[in-house]
Amino acid sequence: MNKFIDLRSDTVTQPPKAMREAMYSAVVGDDIMGEDPTVRELEMLSASLLGKEDALFVTSGTMGNQIAVMTLTNRGEEVIVGDTSHIYNLEVGALAALSQVQTRSIEVPDGVYDIKKMEAAIQLKGIQYAKTSLICLENTNNLNAGLVVPLENINAICDLAKKHNIPVHLDGARIFNAAAASKKSVKEIVKNVDTVMFALTKGLAAPFGAILAGDKEFIAKARWIKQRIGGGFRQAGFLAAPGIVALNTMLPQLEVDHKNAQILGQGLSKVGRLKVDPSRIHTNIVTASLEDLPISIDAFLGRLLDKGIKAKKISDTSFRMVTHYGIDENDLHEVIAAVEYIIESLSMEGNNGKR
Ligand SMILES: Cc1ncc(COP(=O)(O)O)c(C=O)c1O
Repeated sequence: MNKFIDLRSDTVTQPPKAMREAMYSAVVGDDIMGEDPTVRELEMLSASLLGKEDALFVTSGTMGNQIAVMTLTNRGEEVIVGDTSHIYNLEVGALAALSQVQTRSIEVPDGVYDIKKMEAAIQLKGIQYAKTSLICLENTNNLNAGLVVPLENINAICDLAKKHNIPVHLDGARIFNAAAASKKSVKEIVKNVDTVMFALTKGLAAPFGAILAGDKEFIAKARWIKQRIGGGFRQAGFLAAPGIVALNTMLPQLEVDHKNAQILGQGLSKVGRLKVDPSRIHTNIVTASLEDLPISIDAFLGRLLDKGIKAKKISDTSFRMVTHYGIDENDLHEVIAAVEYIIESLSMEGNNGKR
């Protein structure tokens, strides 16, 4: 099998040997009956890392986010979301389909929420208005950017939400990246939000699952909703076991991923006419634009693929590269050299029209 350097996402990671062994030897029970000790161990470990009362093991980040919304809202109410957020853009309309809520989106430029706009978006204005029943934040933030939301910004929104008696859910799919990048503990970052989801399958390299956390009452209700939507699984300890290994062993890897993203970003920013803004590389995601180059994004990504490198198209002129456990420094130098080669060959080809 050809080995690709796959930078499309940190979800492409292959589980390390310790995770496979943990799956093999996991002690399991019937989780719907509350009898799987490995699932419970993962839930308790997660709750303690997050400083929340309890946690729930779910199949995916999407499921965790949607269970949170289903638990905290009623039909016809309104949820405030960031306009570039995953929950709003990439969860198949589940807010409408499953919770029957309507959304009010606000811009989150550079991963910072505007408190005035947030306050203006809160609906408590009279009989013709849908009641705002939830604010959904995201950290790291912004479709394809991985920006760290400043803690003061999160806390200011939580203060505002408390004033209006509205709960705050944090989509923290990559919250451990935010913690590593800001040198703060996850506990500190999520202290003031009511509920939080994080993914085990991204930089943490587990093959399965996500965690939803909050207070005991919230998790009890969320557990019931998880069961309702078919998320109750029986001997789920086999799936939870690699998550425990992930939390116990993979956190230092995120710092390596961030360092690698810096190396990659710096290297790509020196390649003529490729646009990369190193100040926007907060975590493990690097984005670059070809807008000044005479090649289409599809042709460019095709040429990269011919060299064994996979990157993800994120617009008509730009792509992203995400560093992760499966990528080392040699891979990065290979990628930078390949990008350089492709761009240099464009001028030699005298290619003036995009193709
Ligand atoms: C910010 C964010 N939230 C939620 C999710 C959903 O996670 P999953 O793919 O496990 O459903 C993702 C996945 O990429 C994400 O990036």
